[in-house]
Amino acid sequence: MTAVTIRPEQAGDEPAIYELTKVAFAPMPFSEGDEQDLVDALREAGDLALSLVALDAERIVGHIAFSRVAISDGAQDWYDLGPVSVAPELQLTGIGSALIGHGIADLRHRGAKGIVLLGNPDYYGRFGFEHDPQLEYPGPPPQYFQRLVLEGDAPAGVVSYPPAFG
Ligand SMILES: CC(C)(COP(=O)(O)OP(=O)(O)OC[C@H]1O[C@@H](n2cnc3c(N)ncnc32)[C@H](O)[C@@H]1OP(=O)(O)O)[C@@H](O)C(=O)NCCC(=O)NCCS
Repeated sequence: MTAVTIRPEQAGDEPAIYELTKVAFAPMPFSEGDEQDLVDALREAGDLALSLVALDAERIVGHIAFSRVAISDGAQDWYDLGPVSVAPELQLTGIGSALIGHGIADLRHRGAKGIVLLGNPDYYGRFGFEHDPQLEYPGPPPQYFQRLVLEGDAPAGVVSYPPAFG
């Protein structure tokens, strides 16, 4: 486990988050190479509901973004997780898990009802995310769309993302 400090994004962090997201996603076969632009677009639109960075002794080595989503059944206070990025040379040392755990705790604290994401179930299942056929995100293979209920009933319907997601 690499020792990191996690804190909310601050003014001035933007270029480091941009570069980190770019290099983290570049080798990923599923990436379209624009995740760094997505983070900027969310921020510009005021849709970056929670943005956390992980720092080692010198620099930002991890980042996670959360934004609000809408659900067609009217469920409120649901968020999307992502993108999440860890510096390539420090991946698989626990930083991603620390950011995800911290983000979930922060959202729970502010009264979030749940979180959705698009990602590998083998990874996100360990945090309690699971696919629910009642909750739909048209397009990608359904099993990659997962949700974590933090409070109340599981919603049912179609999930809509902020415009920055395109
Ligand atoms: C995905 C990512 C955020 C995970 O963070 P990390 O700090 O590398 O991972 P952690 O050290 O917290 O967790 C390691 C564990 O997760 C697993 N894991 C990591 N990335 C995974 C992935 N994409 N798919 C499946 N499992 C994954 C590892 O196999 C390891 O499993 P183990 O604990 O059973 O050995 C990071 O690898 C990353 O930035 N990847 C490139 C960008 C990316 O794919 N982002 C997520 C898109 S959904």
